Amino acid sequence: MAERPYIVGNWKMNGTRAMLAQARAIDRAAQNLMKVEVALAPPFTLIHATHREVEQIGVGAQDCHPADDGAHTGDISATMAADAGAKFVILGHSERRQNHGETDALVRAKAQAALAASLRVIMCCGETEDVRDAGNAVEHVIAQLKASLPETLDRPAEMLTVAYEPVWAIGTGRTPTVEDIGTMHREIRNLLVNLLGEEDGAAVRILYGGSVKAENARELLAADEVGGALVGGASLTAESFMGIVIAA
Ligand code: G3P
Repeated sequence: MAERPYIVGNWKMNGTRAMLAQARAIDRAAQNLMKVEVALAPPFTLIHATHREVEQIGVGAQDCHPADDGAHTGDISATMAADAGAKFVILGHSERRQNHGETDALVRAKAQAALAASLRVIMCCGETEDVRDAGNAVEHVIAQLKASLPETLDRPAEMLTVAYEPVWAIGTGRTPTVEDIGTMHREIRNLLVNLLGEEDGAAVRILYGGSVKAENARELLAADEVGGALVGGASLTAESFMGIVIAA
């Protein structure tokens, strides 16, 4: 486990202003757990309000458009997310790849736009169950990540986090074994070292995501090269989310 674990809540398409009470409670509790870096990615509509309500935790976005502005009805640019108070953005999530047809090339363009707007990037990758059953999980994830990461990257340790999220483990209650997580994270680490060099490649945190909850967090976070967790369902209440933060 990394020196300062990073636990990020992805609220997905959940939350109206009533949810700000949960953000406040998470923020208060995080102030007593400074050894863990805690962050939340609420929907766009709550970024600004969450940013104003919290003191300790990071606030981020769940997506951004690759262009900075223009005729893109319904889209949000990285600059706009940053202006609302986001400090990071989750990119390449499998729900974006599957539901919105996002390709590796598009994810890479988004990452470049995010970095240009000084947003830190949490880059997601992961395999479907079919790919894992065919024995191609590592190959698939490494190729996906390689093609999705930005081509140029200053201060990688600060600006980039990778999140390994097996698609079949998201919201299903199923998780890979600790050994399988370790194997994947070691392969991702090797890729990062190859791309970024020994020092920077070793410093980028790699999160695990997929059905993390308070009850399994300690075990999953102990897997090799796991620097924290990207949490969906269990981040929606302060009680369940802080159970994970405490386990970290
Ligand atoms: O980004 C977090 C995620 O996809 C995992 O979701 O609900 O399985 O924790 P969940």
